[in-house]
Amino acid sequence: MRVLVNARHGGPEVLVVEERPTPTPPAGKVRLRVERSGLNFADVAARVGLYPDAPKPPMVLGYEVAGVVDEVGQGVTELAQGDRVLALTHFGGHASHVVVTPTLVRRIPAAMSFDAAAAIPVNYLTALHMLRYVAPVQPGMSVLLQMAAGGVGLAALEILKAIGGVTVLARASTAKHALLQQKGATHCLDSRAPYVDEVRALTGGRGVDRVIDALGGADWKRGYELLAPAGHLVCFGWANMVPGTTRQPLHVAREFLRLPLFNPMQLMSANKAVSGVNLGHLWTEAKLMGGHLDALLELFSRGALAPHVDSVIPLSDAKRAHERLQSRASVGKVLFDCQA
Ligand SMILES: NC(=O)c1ccc[n+]([C@@H]2O[C@H](COP(=O)([O-])OP(=O)(O)OC[C@H]3O[C@@H](n4cnc5c(N)ncnc54)[C@H](OP(=O)(O)O)[C@@H]3O)[C@@H](O)[C@H]2O)c1
Repeated sequence: MRVLVNARHGGPEVLVVEERPTPTPPAGKVRLRVERSGLNFADVAARVGLYPDAPKPPMVLGYEVAGVVDEVGQGVTELAQGDRVLALTHFGGHASHVVVTPTLVRRIPAAMSFDAAAAIPVNYLTALHMLRYVAPVQPGMSVLLQMAAGGVGLAALEILKAIGGVTVLARASTAKHALLQQKGATHCLDSRAPYVDEVRALTGGRGVDRVIDALGGADWKRGYELLAPAGHLVCFGWANMVPGTTRQPLHVAREFLRLPLFNPMQLMSANKAVSGVNLGHLWTEAKLMGGHLDALLELFSRGALAPHVDSVIPLSDAKRAHERLQSRASVGKVLFDCQA
């Protein structure tokens, strides 16, 4: 099989494709022939050396795949050879084949392409977990959505549209605003411009009920201040930490200094909540994650989800995929064609 290896920490030049023996699935596991796998911001942060959860180089990253079950280990009854599936992989997904436990594998409907299927697991699980479980959004509420034209952002827009009656203030660069409107954003804000005064003006000074923020650092502070009473800030990433293609220690130190400090007394008297979400640390919560996956497949079958794929790039051209995501040029999901 072929795997995409991050030979060491650094720029996109550290990515190399290697041939390795194709593993046989042990009892209780299945092997998938991977058609598409998703590239996530976490993969870029891991490549740079700013993602503490990642394995040490040389490492094979990749959290999500879509493909076909091509060999079944002893004792597996829920999946069969030939099943079209999507799956969460705790690393190792950027490869032509991967061995997984069936718990976080789901058969996909005939109407779902491998492109759509590989675009769903990480982005849509994250968005659904935040908007329906951690900080549930109800009709009539307002939401400030940072990084709205990214994979998670577009997934969040579709889930908010399915909830209905939500005022969504979505930030992205202006070239992406038409797509945000099409996906249901109420107001589009320029991600290259200040936003605090604009959010206040658009909400009549009240602020918003939810802030969904993976920018981190000073933006978490701004988001907290923009919360209306009983509002909820969900922190789920720190993109501000990764401005260049390699690790920049001075920038990292400056970002830490910009972190807001919250204490329970302050939260209580302000009637505000702050939550953190890290999907990578919910891996063992198979019941919760499996329930979310089922909810997403149900939303897909109702026509509520239409994953926006930015590009499908051969595994052999992985540098281009990383550069596209990191340069902020991508809109929606960047996928690998794992058989090319
Ligand atoms: N905690 C979790 O479980 C979890 C799961 C998935 C993702 N995440 C996090 O969620 C964030 C978004 O992920 P994604 O996959 O949706 O990202 P993505 O598809 O790469 O989209 C990122 C977009 O956000 C905008 N952006 C604004 N400021 C940015 C900055 N400082 N650096 C990079 N992009 C910036 C860019 O669009 P404009 O230039 O148009 O603004 C960019 O195209 C990442 O930080 C990721 O680590 C967390």
